[in-house]
Amino acid sequence: MNSPIGVFDSGFGGLTVLKEMVQQMPEYDYLYLGDNARAPYGNRSFDTVYEYTLEAVDFLFNQGCELVILACNTASAKALRSIQQKYLPEKYPNKRVLGVIRPTTELVGKLSNTGHVGILGTLGTVQSESYVVEIAKFSPHTMVSQQACPMWVPIIENNLMDTSGAAFFIKDNLKELLSKDAAIDTIVLGCTHYPLLTALIQKELPENIQLVSQGGIVANSLKDYLYRHPEISEKLSKNGQRKFLTTDDPIKFNEMGSLFFAGSIQSNHCSLGK
Ligand code: DGL
Repeated sequence: MNSPIGVFDSGFGGLTVLKEMVQQMPEYDYLYLGDNARAPYGNRSFDTVYEYTLEAVDFLFNQGCELVILACNTASAKALRSIQQKYLPEKYPNKRVLGVIRPTTELVGKLSNTGHVGILGTLGTVQSESYVVEIAKFSPHTMVSQQACPMWVPIIENNLMDTSGAAFFIKDNLKELLSKDAAIDTIVLGCTHYPLLTALIQKELPENIQLVSQGGIVANSLKDYLYRHPEISEKLSKNGQRKFLTTDDPIKFNEMGSLFFAGSIQSNHCSLGK
């Protein structure tokens, strides 16, 4: 049985991370799963995000994955710790699940000159305080302000990026964030969907503020992890295959997904939680 690297997101966002992984580690096989039928996850309760994420991880394990990346901040914030501390030791002690928040928070303090950082994310990610807690571990002097952007994922999932509504919410949420701390010089796109809005966000920001996307950071960190863990890396198949699954309509997934992945996609349908 092949053992691809499983990559999971509530919908399309994780493709922005997968794109970078494929670029940096083209030799591995990848199996992407987007739970588009139940996206967005951002406003859902802790228990629901945990349940959905667990179903996805279980599904990917049953497809032969030994390693799954939660390429979703909301799932990383709300489900990863319980999966790593309770679920894996009991059910799959030899398999691994990693998220996107840790690699980002390890680095972000070093990227800022002023020591003032802004985080943009879903309501779930912001309310979990994961970024605040994790950044404090790696760079305790960094000041962190957060802003939830609950409309951004629905705007992206519905391909409404080029509308006046999108422009309104982007402007408004950025204004809110910057009003919390005028010294912010680094803003993290703490949701894997948001890189699709980069050009629109940048238009609203002063030039001295840098935007940080996670794809490259997460891919770098995974490469390093696999180098440090040959016992995991040698279990993974390396035929350069990419497969895509969605819980919603594969035709729509192929169309929209190609924007996120910046390459063509042929997906198949799958069901979770039945
Ligand atoms: N890509 C997910 C994240 O990084 C989107 C969450 C959602 O479905 O609302 O948080």
